Amino acid sequence: MTLDDGADGAYDKGVMNMKILMVESSPHKQGSSNLLAAEFQRGAEEAGHEVEVFDAAKADIHPCLGCDYCGMAGPCVQKDDMEGLKDRIRRADMVVFVTPLYYFGFSTQLKMVIDRFYSFNGELTSMHLKTALIVAAWDSNSWTMENISAHYQTLVKYLNFDDQGMILGKGCGNVPMTRRTEYPRAAYEMGRSLR
Ligand SMILES: Cc1cc2nc3c(=O)[nH]c(=O)nc-3n(C[C@H](O)[C@H](O)[C@H](O)COP(=O)(O)O)c2cc1C
Repeated sequence: MTLDDGADGAYDKGVMNMKILMVESSPHKQGSSNLLAAEFQRGAEEAGHEVEVFDAAKADIHPCLGCDYCGMAGPCVQKDDMEGLKDRIRRADMVVFVTPLYYFGFSTQLKMVIDRFYSFNGELTSMHLKTALIVAAWDSNSWTMENISAHYQTLVKYLNFDDQGMILGKGCGNVPMTRRTEYPRAAYEMGRSLR
């Protein structure tokens, strides 16, 4: 995290510019959850933050084998894109988890990433990382997001994350539906208002 050094060399009202890593996880590159993520990114970049995207749906990441070789403190026996992602998380001030709602939970692509946190569980917990959650779902029931938000909040508690908020996009079943909702604007506003 760096203080923004204004053009005159003076600090710009103490605004903290963050390195934000967005972990996307939909097989639809141009789909609903990534649309919400792009709006968040637009707001965050306007606010002066540096945003990079990691696409877990395209990455070579495998499920945790549960072998315990890492002893929850690395290295992992599997040599795939997770090593690079861990380094990117270490350099980040904030991680945004982006997912379509799949059977009321994270996409498998994102859950694989989360399970692989096992090999640096303690280190991750000590980082007190800022995080946020962005979800797109088809349904609009009052209970549609209950499970995924509870799961995310439990991770926040367990991994000592500093939660910055959730965009729980109901009625976001495809891109035209998503554009008709208030969620793209909400995602932009969340990115824009980060401190
Ligand atoms: C395997 C699968 C499971 C899904 N499960 C749910 C669900 O539990 N609730 C829901 O509202 N939508 C569900 N959907 C719909 C997607 O969440 C929705 O279409 C979303 O917009 C997809 O986002 P994306 O374009 O970012 O992939 C599911 C879709 C798939 C393919």
